[in-house]
Amino acid sequence: MRKQIVAGNWKMNKNIQESIQLANEVVANVQGLTLNNTRVIVTPTFVNLTEVVRATDGSAVEVAAQNMHQAKSGAFTGEISAEMLTSLGLKTVILGHSERREYFGETDAILAEKVNAALANNLEVIFCFGEVLEDRKSDNHFNVVESQIKNGLFHLEASAWENIVLAYEPVWAIGTGETASPEQAQEMHAFIRKIVADKYTTEVAENVSILYGGSVKPSNSKEIFSKEDVDGGLIGGAALNAEDFIALVKSF
Ligand code: PGA
Repeated sequence: MRKQIVAGNWKMNKNIQESIQLANEVVANVQGLTLNNTRVIVTPTFVNLTEVVRATDGSAVEVAAQNMHQAKSGAFTGEISAEMLTSLGLKTVILGHSERREYFGETDAILAEKVNAALANNLEVIFCFGEVLEDRKSDNHFNVVESQIKNGLFHLEASAWENIVLAYEPVWAIGTGETASPEQAQEMHAFIRKIVADKYTTEVAENVSILYGGSVKPSNSKEIFSKEDVDGGLIGGAALNAEDFIALVKSF
């Protein structure tokens, strides 16, 4: 059975003290919960990973990175490799977030390389994609999403999909307060599962968790997460506050 996942993407927020405090609060609150089939992941910025790994040690809260470089090592000033992440004890990395694509020029081709590097280092990948508003308005959103998934992931063998989580994040809904309706999310998630089934097998498609991201908050999470093909959320703003984040976890 595929997992439900609530992953908090802290982006470029929280200094070291604030990161430790938030991690401690999340851990304390998660301790009292029966998680069943739900994974809880927090994703601090690179410099705070070590301390957040320490703060969550021995708890059910997992830690992931927000990005990584595709090369093994070498002259890439300011970059972080997959192996550096695994050496911290990390098991998961987010790749292809729309902010990386838009502000840092990450193309489908670069992302395919990053996916390969992550998987080669036994890192699970939360692979993000989603259309901009113009694509949705011109009814091109299915094509855009299909091509992002195809170009970033469809070169993989079926077995590699055990370490892939998909995150559909319509760009027009990220940080805007505007959320895709539960029906829009479900429609896209069902489409995604279908293209994965067509390319691979129904089994691969049924086993992959598909998260929704874009202005998920306690007031709308229950309805979105209740949709059949929505297996959780990638959360920005609402993950910066332990109370809101835990409310999202509880909405399963
Ligand atoms: P948001 O961000 O929840 O603040 O809209 C989501 C994301 O970018 O992952």
